[in-house]
Amino acid sequence: MIKIEAAITTQNYQQIEILADTIWREHYIPIVGKPQIDYMLDKFQSVKAIEKQVEDGYEYFSIYYDETPVGYISIKEEKDTLFLSKIYVLSNYRGKKIGKTAMQFVEQKAKTYNLKRIRLTVNINNINSIKAYEKLGFKNIGALIADIGSGFVMDDYEMIKLVKS
Ligand SMILES: CC(C)(COP(=O)(O)OP(=O)(O)OC[C@H]1O[C@@H](n2cnc3c(N)ncnc32)[C@H](O)[C@@H]1OP(=O)(O)O)[C@@H](O)C(=O)NCCC(=O)NCCS
Repeated sequence: MIKIEAAITTQNYQQIEILADTIWREHYIPIVGKPQIDYMLDKFQSVKAIEKQVEDGYEYFSIYYDETPVGYISIKEEKDTLFLSKIYVLSNYRGKKIGKTAMQFVEQKAKTYNLKRIRLTVNINNINSIKAYEKLGFKNIGALIADIGSGFVMDDYEMIKLVKS
């Protein structure tokens, strides 16, 4: 059974930090290399970084499969848009409709916040995730390159999905 719960405690954030470390190292080192992932994990997915993002309006949610923590989501409300900042599932739990269930949850949040669309960014070489997003109804609207400091850049596509009212 898939369960999605708000992550609000330090323990929740510690669990997300561990999930991010596992998922990001496995998934992104082949795409962007270890130095960038070491930098990004510390900058974006340490407990301290997550707490700062929450202060800045990001909401985090933990995903459980049969009570085991298997992934997480982060969203932020923007003007007219819900920004899906993070959606990650452990590799051995993929393909079980966990991402789809998480996306339905995010869509419901967009409706609750009265927002017309969901947007996300995805690395241009993250081919499997791009395919999954397309299956889930997202459209690629173009490239987005972000300087994240220390000589690293995020080379992404921006994708959007309109939310049916
Ligand atoms: C992207 C991700 C969150 C999807 O979660 P998931 O639990 O594997 O997805 P689901 O099993 O719910 O599949 C959702 C849909 O995408 C499709 N899909 C998933 N992976 C796919 C792939 N590699 N190729 C084509 N379609 C794919 C599924 O068939 C399903 O479509 P359907 O409902 O029409 O059958 C997950 O694969 C993941 O964490 N990937 C690695 C980390 C990552 O890149 N995250 C995104 C960062 S921007």
